[in-house]
Formats: sequence, C-alpha cells, structure tokens
Amino acid sequence: MLKGHTFPRAFSARYHVLDSILAKEMQSLLRRIEAHSTSAVPQKKTIHNSGVFENASKLALGFASLLRRSISSSSITTEHPAVGDVVVQPSGRRSAAAKPLILQTVANVFTSYFAGKRFEEDGADPAFSRMVTDFDAIFHEVNQGYAADFLPWLLPLHGRHLARLSSWSHRIRGFMMEALVGGRVEEWEAKKAENNNGEVEEKDYVDALVAHVRSEASPQMSWDTAMFALEDIIGGHSAVGNMLIKILAFIAVRPEVQERVKSELKAALGGEKREIRISDRVVMPYTEAIVFEAIRLISSPIVPHVSNRDSTIGGYKVEKDTLIFMNNYDLNMSPELWDQPEAFKPERFLVRDDTIGGYRLKKPDYFLPFGAGRRSCMGYKLVQYVSFVVLATILDQYKLVPIPGEDYSVKVGNLALPEDTYKFIFEKVR
Ligand code: HEM
Repeated sequence: MLKGHTFPRAFSARYHVLDSILAKEMQSLLRRIEAHSTSAVPQKKTIHNSGVFENASKLALGFASLLRRSISSSSITTEHPAVGDVVVQPSGRRSAAAKPLILQTVANVFTSYFAGKRFEEDGADPAFSRMVTDFDAIFHEVNQGYAADFLPWLLPLHGRHLARLSSWSHRIRGFMMEALVGGRVEEWEAKKAENNNGEVEEKDYVDALVAHVRSEASPQMSWDTAMFALEDIIGGHSAVGNMLIKILAFIAVRPEVQERVKSELKAALGGEKREIRISDRVVMPYTEAIVFEAIRLISSPIVPHVSNRDSTIGGYKVEKDTLIFMNNYDLNMSPELWDQPEAFKPERFLVRDDTIGGYRLKKPDYFLPFGAGRRSCMGYKLVQYVSFVVLATILDQYKLVPIPGEDYSVKVGNLALPEDTYKFIFEKVR
C-alpha cells in the first residue's frame, strides 16, 4: 500500500527481479548495438516528434506539474530517416546514434520493472517508440531552465509551447492507459474475488496503484493521481537514459577510463562469460564512481523548495514561503571541496579500505546529486543500479571509439540532450 513520501512496498521488494530484467534487456541492447553498427542502411526512426527539439519553448515546469497541465491532444506523427551521417571505420563498423539505442533499452527496464511489460524496439512497436520520444521531448523541455520558472506571471506568454507539451503528455497518457494499465484493474478484481476479498499480492507498481485507488485507505487516491504517479515514475527512464549517453560521451574520449573499467571487469568476471549483475558493483567501485563523476560534472539544478515555516539555515533567517534553491553547481565545482574540480576523475570517489584489501565507493556528505531529506530522489538506487549494469555491459563487449571531428563535450547544468546527439563507433572487443 502507498504511504506518504514512499514508493509502495512492491517497488522496493522487487529489487531482486531487477537483475533478471536487466539481463534480458542487456542481451537485447547488445544485439541492437551490433545491428546498428553493421547494417548497411542507416536505422530508421519510425516515430519522430516533428520539430520537437527545434525552437524549444522557453518554459520549464516540474515534470509532474507539467503532466497535470494537459490541455490539447493534437497528434504529431511523421516518419523520416533520422540517424544522419554514418561514418564507416576501416574495420567496416558504422557509427551508431546513442539515443534510440539507450533510451529504448532503459524504457524497457522501467516498464518491465514497474508494469511487468516490455516492448519491441527500433520502431517495431510504433506506440512504444513514440512514448519514448514523447517523454524525451518533455524531459528536454523541462530541463531548459527558463525565466518563467521564477516569474510565473510570464507563463501566459508560453501558451503555444504549453499546448505542444500538453499534446505529448496526452499521447503518453494514452499509451499508459492502453499498454500498461489496460486490463490490470479487471485482473486485480478477479484475484481479489478469488481470494474472498482478501489481500492481493502486489507484483509491481501498477498493482500497488490499483490496490490503493480501489481501497478505502487514507490518503485517498484518484485514478488521475495514480496515472500521474505512474507517468512520473516511468518517465524517470529519460533521466537515466540521457545521463547514460552523457557518460558514454565522457568516456569515449578517455580510453584510459575505459581501460580501468575493463580491468575491473576482468577481475569481477574472472574469464567467465556471463551477464553483469548488480552485485558486481561491490568489486567494481571505479565503474560505479564514473556515474557519480558524470553527475557531479553535469551539475543539473535541484528542484527548488519552499520553506513552510520561519526557520534558520546556517545562522541565516529564512521566512516562511521563501523559495530556496540549492546551488548544486557551486557544491559540485568548489575548489575548496574538490581537487581539480573541472577534471573528470572518478577515482575521487574511491577510498582505500584495508578490511576488503581494495577500494570502495564513498559519497562525500557535500555531494548531493539526489537532493537530501524527505523529498530527496526516490529513484536514486535505480539510477545507480541501471547505469552501472548498462555501462559495464557495453564496456565488457565494446570499445567506444570517438568519431573524428565529432564534439563530445558535455554541457553543464542540464541532464537532457537534444534529439540528434552523440554517435559512437562500437568496436567489438570480445
Ligand atoms: C540521473 C537521474 C536522476 C537524478 C540526477 C535525480 C535527481 C533528483 C533530485 C535532485 C530530486 C529533488 C530532491 C530534492 O528536492 O531535494 C529528485 C526528486 C525525485 N526523483 Fe529523481 N533523479 C534521477 C532519476 C530519477 C528516477 C529514475 C526516478 C524514478 C524512478 C526518480 C524519482 C524521483 C521522485 C519521485 C522525486 C520526488 C521526491 C519527492 O518530492 O518526495 N528520479 N530527483
């Protein structure tokens, strides 16, 4: 059952199934990397948000509040080849665009985990592909950081953009209702009846939401709120996917970082040919540290808070209703806190631990990429687990080779990426 400020029990109790979901999705990802790297014809994106990323609206709303503002439901569906230039290596391998590969994989991890369903990638299931591009378009939009974030009276100037955002959210709602929730209420009711109106085992987040809406438990939840909750959580795949693509950009131009991951992989797998598991994190702290280091350097802003009473912070008086914005960039880039803050050095998160005869990951107290306190990120473990497994799986099989002349710099202060973004050469290493 849902409790205030927590995920339902079904969410955390299902961490053990994440490994098998990840194993399946990694097999699919590796197959798709091969196909994208060797096919003679550039991959086609079946569903494309026409004009989604150009002329980005100057407006950002919280993801959840954005979805609550659905107004119109016009649909934009066009089809065209989207991969662009294809660079062929002397080895015969082609460059592959990271976005469709990574986003669809992470989306399937999320839909499998929270709603027990996966979908065919690469346009074979157009509704799924469109859901992924719609979420990504919204994620890009809400990450721009506009004046209207601070000056709400500017919102009326953004009517056209709000309508576009609203139409993406409407399409997402349609997908959620049809593909993820469809039939689940009836299923749940049948189980309940079978069980003489007793408790129904909640196998995933959708079950937990259905149970909560159907129950008399307090606080009451409407269907609309439940759908927003589901959309918010499934939408988390865009954050993880975009961050992973940025991680690939960081390491594509740093072969020495890839080499260190490979030596951790060698030690962890000991020559065994098997999938990467979440538990491998313990013996691969450098690989996990790459995720922290990328998040630190990206330094995306943290959701503003509002004080609900008069208070003090560090001796400063803070009145009730004050907007409080934590300066994440300053925390992450301060030379007082970090050695060479501009440099990409995952090892800064490692400490020697003689009890294990090696290194372990350490998150300093002043590093707060997921916020702090009772409103901190609910998805932080999922972020760490999924990014670790995806990153380690790719590097176990491939060397990431930059395309000559391509810009792999990673922008600060924004987790999102434009639609057409980095391409890489995936050179097979085993
Ligand atoms: C790279 C990925 C992510 C980063 C950097 C990130 C970071 C954050 C931050 C900074 C906050 C605000 C904390 C605060 O206000 O103090 C937050 C809130 C939240 N995050 Fe994440 N997040 C990520 C991915 C995810 C994912 C994948 C999910 C869901 C599966 C998720 C679910 C949430 C939720 C539900 C909240 C609101 C918590 C509340 O208000 O009580 N996040 N996240």
